[in-house]
Amino acid sequence: MNYIRINELLKSPTIGSEVIIKGWVRTFRSNRFIAINDGSTINNVQAVLDFEKEDENQLKRITTGSSIAVVGKVVASQGKGQNIEIVVKSFEILGDANPDEFPLQPKKHSLEFLREIAHLRFRTSTFGAITRVRHSMIFAIHNFFNERGFYNIHTPIITGSDAEGAGEMFRVTTLDLKNLPKNEQGETDTKQDFFGKETNLTVSGQLEAELAALALGKVYTFGPTFRAENSNTTRHLSEFWMIEPEVAFNDLNDNMDLAEEMLKYCVQYALDKCGEDLAFLATRLEEEDKSKPQDQRSLPLIEKLKFVVENDFVRLTYTEAIEILRNSKPNKKGQFKYPIESWGADLQSEHERFLVEKEFKKPVILTDYPANIKAFYMRQNDDGKTVRAMDILFPGIGEIVGGSQREERLDILKQKIATFNIPEESVWWYLDTRKFGTVPHAGFGLGFERLMLFVTGMSNIRDVIPFPRTPKNAEF
Ligand code: 4AD
Ligand code: MG
Repeated sequence: MNYIRINELLKSPTIGSEVIIKGWVRTFRSNRFIAINDGSTINNVQAVLDFEKEDENQLKRITTGSSIAVVGKVVASQGKGQNIEIVVKSFEILGDANPDEFPLQPKKHSLEFLREIAHLRFRTSTFGAITRVRHSMIFAIHNFFNERGFYNIHTPIITGSDAEGAGEMFRVTTLDLKNLPKNEQGETDTKQDFFGKETNLTVSGQLEAELAALALGKVYTFGPTFRAENSNTTRHLSEFWMIEPEVAFNDLNDNMDLAEEMLKYCVQYALDKCGEDLAFLATRLEEEDKSKPQDQRSLPLIEKLKFVVENDFVRLTYTEAIEILRNSKPNKKGQFKYPIESWGADLQSEHERFLVEKEFKKPVILTDYPANIKAFYMRQNDDGKTVRAMDILFPGIGEIVGGSQREERLDILKQKIATFNIPEESVWWYLDTRKFGTVPHAGFGLGFERLMLFVTGMSNIRDVIPFPRTPKNAEF
């Protein structure tokens, strides 16, 4: 029959037609008005019953959270807030939701509470909107790269290498942890493990993407990424999704251009395709901000998104940034938790946010960091001290993108891995690309959930991924 999803119905309703709607009850008022949502849109459709005609036992089953199928006629709405409604001919409760047990009520719940019921969180307006925006952003990214002639490659999830060299990896093993086999030196005998060596979950697909780029020219990976860093912050997940393009013949400037263009494309895509969901999220943010002191409130969401699309990002070197930070008010007044004393200091998120939110009030791309605070694969500058790194810093978030031009010169790369104590035999396959037809190339990584934070205006990264994994938390 005429089963129709609510977004389709609301987009082009035919007054007088008969339709079937299936979804979940949001509210049931006055034994008469059922607000139904089916996940296809932030908007509910209102179904109107004549309760005198209905069986009382069936009416009782219409409770918040129950699933329902309604057959009825589309009519112009009498009430405010909607153009059409459905006059119910018949309905069927598909699944009950006992009101004494169902945890979601039509009132507002805290985001913290919703995280504890991640299985039902999808049913809320906020998380429904976020999920639809997330879907759109995934498409935006694939469109962006596809339109520009990139090839999507799948890089491994289980790997023997530590691309970032930070050692924050989750071990993958089938060894019996209660009875580990030992070698002659009394250490765990990893030769007996499933892969015959130590393996981990990937922290980045970059090294493998580089191999592909040095054959196919322009590639990107978009996959799950795992980091066992014990950071319980609003911007870190133990399992997140990362987009990593890698381009042969690009230098750092091309790399910055590509990243800036990609971020603007994604934000514009959200503005174009997710209007209703963004409007809802903008109102949510406005309400949340009401409880904050004036100086901690954010720009209205839509304004903030348009601002990023319409303005050039500021580009400056790490060395310039250090000068600005050293002479900044918060540094002189001792307001930074990590004071900036000299060149070489690693930047913390308080410094990144000062540059973006106070100094420039724009997204910032910082380049040419000290070699020793960045990964081994970044291209060394002629000064011998800095590397061709770039981090993109966003308001409210800090680092959203990290990338670099890569070290394509075999001799320098070999020296680098020696300084970083990386055994040459563990990266022989990576070094081979520099031995056989090496070319200048560059790439970066975008943290997908950080992009989601920015686009949705949410403030905790746990609220923009369906099933967040963080230290001590892997429920569901
Ligand atoms: O700066 P990162 O560590 O860079 C790399 O992994 C490079 N291999 C990327 C490349 O050049 N191909 O991570 C890249 C981005 C960060 O800027 C951040 O947005 C995100 O990944 N990210 C995280 N997002 C959520 N939770 C975490 N624990 C994250 N760690 C990094
Ligand atoms: Mg980084």
